[in-house]
Amino acid sequence: MRVLFASSEVFPLIKTGGLADVSGALPAALAEAGADMRILLPGYPQAMDATEAKREVGSLGDPLAIGAETRLVSGKLPESGVPVWLIDCPVLFQRDGGPYQDGHGRDWPDNALRFGLLSRVAAQLCTDGSPAKWRPQILHCNDWQTGLAPAYLHAWELLARPGTVFTIHNIAYQGQFPPEMVARLGFPPEMYAMEGLEYYDSLSFLKGGLYYSDRLTTVSPRYAKEIQTPAFGCGIEGLLSRRATDLCGILNGADYGVWDPESDSHLAHPFKPGDTAGKARNKAALQEELGLAPLPQAPLMVIVSRLSDHKGMDLVLAALPAILAMGAQVALVGTGDHQLEDGFRAAAAAHPAQVAACIGYSEQLAHRMMAGGDILLMPSRFEPCGLTQFYAFRYGTVPVAHATGGLADTLVDTGYDTLMTGTANGFVFEHCNAGAFQWAVERAVALHARPDQWRKIVKACVAQDFSWGRSALRYLDLYKSLAGTGKGGGNGKGRAKA
Ligand code: ADP
Ligand code: GLC
Repeated sequence: MRVLFASSEVFPLIKTGGLADVSGALPAALAEAGADMRILLPGYPQAMDATEAKREVGSLGDPLAIGAETRLVSGKLPESGVPVWLIDCPVLFQRDGGPYQDGHGRDWPDNALRFGLLSRVAAQLCTDGSPAKWRPQILHCNDWQTGLAPAYLHAWELLARPGTVFTIHNIAYQGQFPPEMVARLGFPPEMYAMEGLEYYDSLSFLKGGLYYSDRLTTVSPRYAKEIQTPAFGCGIEGLLSRRATDLCGILNGADYGVWDPESDSHLAHPFKPGDTAGKARNKAALQEELGLAPLPQAPLMVIVSRLSDHKGMDLVLAALPAILAMGAQVALVGTGDHQLEDGFRAAAAAHPAQVAACIGYSEQLAHRMMAGGDILLMPSRFEPCGLTQFYAFRYGTVPVAHATGGLADTLVDTGYDTLMTGTANGFVFEHCNAGAFQWAVERAVALHARPDQWRKIVKACVAQDFSWGRSALRYLDLYKSLAGTGKGGGNGKGRAKA
């Protein structure tokens, strides 16, 4: 099975969040399961530098008429060796800053062209216009940045095309641009319609993916249901409900090659999962590194997160006085919303022995937080899957989380019954408000004070297995249901002329 996996970020080449982790690990698991994979991503400077065994494949021309040639470069992902294709277009991708924003957190003004090109090239690689001999049987697109690829395949009315799969990692990010971009990106005007690319008077990349792909997936079964409701569907719930038979939730996995406390090179004291003495050493090291009081008994709550509204970090700030009154410590590594950043900075300045705020992005510190923390805080308002709870489990760190999306699918709340059966692996709250969150934290702190009970919960956490293998097989089944047809049914409109 030949699969082209298109994504805007791929670990370890470039990462802002969980999409990168998935785009690095899932293709590797699929390759292990026998698929012939190619990952496609933009040639950002960091990605170009980190890709191994690079060589030029050929010219892609100037597909969006930007006045510069785009070239295709092939290489391999470090570690897994999965083949990667990079879109070498320096005018659009070679710049300092992040993949979506400049160094000041402002979206790049030409994002429509940048990710229009990613989508366009993904589609082009499925046709005779590709400079490579290899042609995919399946094009697997991820999030809005790749959403126009299935739309291009539709617009070109090919005699044969690959089956297309579109995975929603977060429906709240839609890639909306002014209607002028429809023609600029090469689409005929009739595709700018409610039954097409239009979304509330703008061009929506996400809608392109949702409307023109044969199959839709999202990253947990619960989120697949949630996004069909107005509360979570961000205005697209109607389309998703209509396509419900084409939509399924496949739970993400964890890359235990990267997230393994025993072989973790970022830790001062690597330890076997479940080894409480080893974990205690990492806790002491983290407290020292962050300048927190060296208190072995104080519950140390960690946060590794983007600071965006949906992660619910305002609830942590609201509950912070109560949490500190419980004698707990809170340590955060995160970046994003400036108000939240300031809120955590101020809390750390006011309570340096109890609160540490590392504002920024640090892969190393993220690992040390997982290793040193007792409790991981994830009060997300919604969470398509969430990966940090998987990592926390492996490092014996117990999540406190809102019962939503992938968190609801992976956490078992601690109660009398679940403690008895040894299935309790976290503390879950149903209503997403500061009071409910605080109550869940209080329950966690109470159990933490009873080491015999706490050990049971940690044991259940460490026993969780979210390896990618199982999910990869589900994707393979999905691919198989589409490949060989030469096209998929899609929305009934994505069918190529055969
Ligand atoms: P999302 O993709 O919504 O950000 P996930 O839980 O799926 O949420 O994935 C987040 C990923 O990003 C994890 O690998 C996590 O460790 C990482 N991460 C988030 N913020 C930071 C940060 N400030 N520093 C280091 N890693 C971070
Ligand atoms: C998104 C979601 C997160 C998910 C990740 C990977 O960023 O917010 O919940 O785990 O994608 O699928």
